[in-house]
Amino acid sequence: MKLMVIGCGGVATVAIHKCCENPLFTEIMLASRTVSKCDALAEKLKDKTSAKITTRTVNADSKEELVSLMKEFKPHTVLNVALPYQDLTIMDACLEAGANYVDTANYEAEDTEDPKWREIYEKRCREKGFTAYFDYSWQWAYDEKFKKAGLTALLGTGFDPGVTQVYSAYALKHYFDEIHYIDILDCNGGDHGYPFATNFNPEINLREVSANGSYWEDGHWVETKPMEIKRVYDFDKVGQKDMYLLHHEEIESLAKNIPGVRRIRFFMTFGQSYLTHMKCLENVGMLRTDPVMFEGQKIVPIKFLKALLPDPASLGARTKGKTNIGCVFTGIKDGKEKSIYIYNVCDHEESYKETGAQAISYTTGVPAMVGTAMIASGTWSGPGVFNAEEFDPDPYMEALSKYGLPFTVDENPVIVE
Ligand SMILES: NC(=O)c1ccc[n+]([C@@H]2O[C@H](COP(=O)([O-])OP(=O)(O)OC[C@H]3O[C@@H](n4cnc5c(N)ncnc54)[C@H](OP(=O)(O)O)[C@@H]3O)[C@@H](O)[C@H]2O)c1
Repeated sequence: MKLMVIGCGGVATVAIHKCCENPLFTEIMLASRTVSKCDALAEKLKDKTSAKITTRTVNADSKEELVSLMKEFKPHTVLNVALPYQDLTIMDACLEAGANYVDTANYEAEDTEDPKWREIYEKRCREKGFTAYFDYSWQWAYDEKFKKAGLTALLGTGFDPGVTQVYSAYALKHYFDEIHYIDILDCNGGDHGYPFATNFNPEINLREVSANGSYWEDGHWVETKPMEIKRVYDFDKVGQKDMYLLHHEEIESLAKNIPGVRRIRFFMTFGQSYLTHMKCLENVGMLRTDPVMFEGQKIVPIKFLKALLPDPASLGARTKGKTNIGCVFTGIKDGKEKSIYIYNVCDHEESYKETGAQAISYTTGVPAMVGTAMIASGTWSGPGVFNAEEFDPDPYMEALSKYGLPFTVDENPVIVE
């Protein structure tokens, strides 16, 4: 099966390692902006896989370049592990070239001041009642086009979004008649030793974390100020951490696809030093996403900041500790209320030893490969645009465990108040 992977950063490094371990993928094209990164990875993996690997430069903001490359290589499936800014262009190219599409993060506009984008965005905010820059409506709007083309698009198969939705489908299938409350808990107990760095693309990460929070309750969105809601939770193998409520994209699709759900929240852990740095950067304007003039040149402050911060791909060698990501579910089984907690613990140093990347990239890259394999093998199939909870969770869960992300089910968990 021919697979094209677009992007060659931290997440892609792990996803490509894992694709090379899976005999389903016989020919893999690595295509990214900086082809030297693809070449270096291909060289590292060539003796460890039976897959034939080729590399190419591509500008994934250009539909024409993408279509031409896809028509030449003829991939069955394209895995997009570049940036969310490229999602729609890559989806358009897949439609034109006849390839299935998989990604790990929903579309965001790169220039949020672009009037064309702003008009649609503001209309959607009014309709939905929340102001997050990222939401699924842009990509869900492609459903008809994928149906007509007889192609499948699987959105958001990283850990969160991704595995958290598969955990939800698994909980519903095996543990509940109805799920009423879902709390997604994302804990990174890793320490890289820098005063401030982000564990994945700084631009995407800081935009996500500095935005207003929101959660879904009784059929509507409740919006909060950034970091307004804080809880403390004791995570298995990590210990006690402060966690804060964020807006996150899978809330939107779980609200649509889990019948009877009453509330869905997403919490992520942050240390005080991270929050203080972020607030300071925000206060001085360094998180701005619109261009400003500097010495006669246009620069986007958050992009300039990205150039100054440590490359997330370089954190692997120095990060120690573990991640613990999962979901606490409360609902009804056989007329009785019950709760369970499904989670994975991943070790930064072990991830690095295996793939050269830290656990944030690992916990995203493994499910990126697993979701791609579900589509490529036809285990998950059907024309249209899908989120991970819409398919049978069992084969995905089995593959996750096999490829490095086993899960634990705690049937007596501590509930988040
Ligand atoms: N679902 C989840 O759990 C989860 C968690 C973390 C991250 N993610 C998502 O995973 C994706 C990758 O994150 P990452 O940390 O791996 O980012 P990264 O290290 O910055 O890598 C991004 C890669 O995309 C390439 N790229 C960017 N713009 C491009 C363009 N126009 N054309 C071609 N290639 C382009 C970059 O090229 P260069 O090498 O030239 O810079 C780089 O290789 C992001 O969408 C992120 O939001 C999802």
